[in-house]
Amino acid sequence: MSLGRARGAMCGMEHVSEIKAVRERVAAARRSGRRIGLVPTMGYLHAGHMSLVEASVADGLYTVVSIFVNPTQFGPNDDLDRYPRDTEGDLKKCADAGVELVFLPAGDEMYRPDASTSVQVRKLTDTLCGPARPGHFDGVATVVTKLFNIVQPDRAYFGQKDFQQLAVIRRMVRDLDMPVEVVGCPIVRQPDGLAMSSRNVLLNGDEHGRALRLHEALCHARDRIGVGERDPVTLTTEMLDILAAAEPRGIDYVSIVDPETLQPVLRIERAVLIALAVRLGPTRLIDNMVVDPHAAGT
Ligand code: PAF
Repeated sequence: MSLGRARGAMCGMEHVSEIKAVRERVAAARRSGRRIGLVPTMGYLHAGHMSLVEASVADGLYTVVSIFVNPTQFGPNDDLDRYPRDTEGDLKKCADAGVELVFLPAGDEMYRPDASTSVQVRKLTDTLCGPARPGHFDGVATVVTKLFNIVQPDRAYFGQKDFQQLAVIRRMVRDLDMPVEVVGCPIVRQPDGLAMSSRNVLLNGDEHGRALRLHEALCHARDRIGVGERDPVTLTTEMLDILAAAEPRGIDYVSIVDPETLQPVLRIERAVLIALAVRLGPTRLIDNMVVDPHAAGT
């Protein structure tokens, strides 16, 4: 039984690695009248993750953070082996932020060798990141379903930086009648505009500088919509010009889509999601912005 108590400002935090131990802690919290908040993560926690934790703690929930680098959402050419890890640092951040339980399962606790079941959300996964990462969203939907079943949270918090992931999870929860409220939290950016991501640490100094073009391209599109441009093709072409200056290894997509269906729009008449995925060296970065042409300031 691997159960620990993390040292830190909030010295009551526990970290466990077994499903059974999570269930015991959550049941005890419920018996004492608490409601449960879950923040699913793959660790290497940054300010974006911590904004989700803060939201759950501020909601007064018994806050559970899961840290699990989920192998089933990585393809053979993805960066599973390079994915950054810092369990000790993550535990300290969680303790300091008021998390009450961290679930740190090993791979064989989450997946039995003969596991034969997965969850698939169709249509929403055919666009944006779906074609470039076959199987990725099945891995996400499956592990999130398992985490929901293990923790049985009242609320679960996800970042809007992974906008498509959030849309997929919302659809899954709706379609499968899962009794959990999904809370989407705004993107957290570095002062220079780069969206917070665990993968940012994989960028060298030069790549970091070039990565700023992603946010610049999004801001350009937002500003052009603000002065009346309504043609997605024109905007996409202009964004590609800006991204070319980042000297990317590849651009998976630059898309202007309906935020509900994630399907491309022919003309910008209501709020749109502007999303992009760019490969800088071996690192794949995504970013997005929702822009409403009728909102003040756009
Ligand atoms: O967003 C992530 O970090 C992961 O996709 C998630 C939701 C924790 C599932 O592994």
